[in-house]
Amino acid sequence: MFSFIIAVGENNEMGVNNHLPWHLPKEIGYFRSVTEWHTIIMGRKTFESLPKVLPNRRHIVLTKDKTYKYDHPNVEIVNSLEEVFDKVNLEEENIIIGGAEIFHLFLPYTDRIYLTIVHKTFKADIYFFDLDMDKWIETKKWEAILDDKTNIPHTYYVLDRNKG
Ligand SMILES: NC(=O)c1ccc[n+]([C@@H]2O[C@H](COP(=O)([O-])OP(=O)(O)OC[C@H]3O[C@@H](n4cnc5c(N)ncnc54)[C@H](OP(=O)(O)O)[C@@H]3O)[C@@H](O)[C@H]2O)c1
Repeated sequence: MFSFIIAVGENNEMGVNNHLPWHLPKEIGYFRSVTEWHTIIMGRKTFESLPKVLPNRRHIVLTKDKTYKYDHPNVEIVNSLEEVFDKVNLEEENIIIGGAEIFHLFLPYTDRIYLTIVHKTFKADIYFFDLDMDKWIETKKWEAILDDKTNIPHTYYVLDRNKG
């Protein structure tokens, strides 16, 4: 199966200048707990926005550039959606981590969304799309516990595809 993990602001903001619009250490910890030991799939721009190759995760990076290379044992470069399907085990949970282009591409094949809503508006140049909530069931929801470092309120949701 495929899942998404995504954090958005109140207006669906998700990126600015190829970075996240916020700094939320607790949300980064949540991202790690969901994605660690899984295959993570991302667009080339999101890959280049990461501070480093993320430990304990197999990275699959999509680019249309057939000459794009990245020499690391946990990074595989692919050129199409079909190539991603060839590489993953669909019995396992494979997690799409963005960005917007790749979320669009995988939406029809995705059964779960780990969605964080950050309760603030941000300057942004990349936005997530509105989900058709008839197609999703909210299976979990909880508020982040705030502290000195992570002091912007945010809510975690798990949405599962409504197959009824
Ligand atoms: N808030 C969040 O949860 C979150 C999550 C992830 C990212 N972000 C933010 O989102 C922004 C990046 O998102 P983005 O939408 O601009 O870029 P992206 O989706 O990360 O990457 C886009 C790139 O993916 C490749 N690509 C797209 N469709 C493809 C296809 N069908 N086949 C092969 N390759 C394909 C292309 O690479 P080439 O140009 O190399 O051909 C394209 O330029 C950043 O600001 C990042 O910080 C936010």
